[in-house]
Amino acid sequence: MPPKWRTEPRFPDGPAPDPAGSHHERRIRSFQPRRSRVTTGQGEALKRLWGTWGLDIDGHSVIDLEALFGGLPVVLEIGFGMGEATAQMAAADPATGVLAADVHTPGQGNLLALAERGGLSNVRVANGDAIILLREMLAPGSLAGIRVYFPDPWPKARHHKRRLIQPEFLTLAATRLAPGAVLHCATDWEPYAEQMLEVLTAHPDFENTQADGGYAPRPDFRPLTRFEGQGLDKGHVVHDLLFRRTEN
Ligand SMILES: C[S@@+](CC[C@H](N)C(=O)[O-])C[C@H]1O[C@@H](n2cnc3c(N)ncnc32)[C@H](O)[C@@H]1O
Repeated sequence: MPPKWRTEPRFPDGPAPDPAGSHHERRIRSFQPRRSRVTTGQGEALKRLWGTWGLDIDGHSVIDLEALFGGLPVVLEIGFGMGEATAQMAAADPATGVLAADVHTPGQGNLLALAERGGLSNVRVANGDAIILLREMLAPGSLAGIRVYFPDPWPKARHHKRRLIQPEFLTLAATRLAPGAVLHCATDWEPYAEQMLEVLTAHPDFENTQADGGYAPRPDFRPLTRFEGQGLDKGHVVHDLLFRRTEN
């Protein structure tokens, strides 16, 4: 009987392990490189669909988003996990292209399979570090939005520097967003929510969409994510933050 699980990397025409070599950079990363088990179904989706819908974040060239998404406005989702919420949002809004980035191979296979099953043509799966994608592969002002749902909370004080939502990230993200485009974050980790609100409020390139300067109600378009469900089971409170790129 064939083994039910395989470990990466086993996909000659699939996502490359560490495509930009970022695992060897000195930079502090927001994710932990890990070997992940890929189910048979995920592996088959990677083999069959990666060549059409996947791209490696290798940092080599700027992506022509217009060509990639046939002229749709494009939203970047950073850290889609298993991709269920990503696929649901893409299905609900076919007029928006979703560039979904994560380093997690099983999730990439899962999202490709979901996109195929849903007949979605507005999703592309990007493999690797979203910082390199933003820095090296996306043109200034090219994004209609950025979504960061339940980024790793890195709860230990010595790991706080790994948190994605920090002033340097916001400065980079602001350059890639079109004026008026929204950065939408959500977290169930209260201290991280407070940090997000603080750094976003202080950043000159963003303004809060909420008149009271606080958290936003969860917009109807954001479905419950897998990670969010786990947080809610533990009694965590979820906060959404929607900040607009200023027009300057
Ligand atoms: C806690 S999970 C949340 C997943 C999903 N958004 C959800 O709510 O279920 C965070 C995800 O972000 C990904 N991630 C963290 N830093 C990243 C980065 N710099 N580039 C791409 N993905 C990243 C991790 O691999 C992980 O899958």
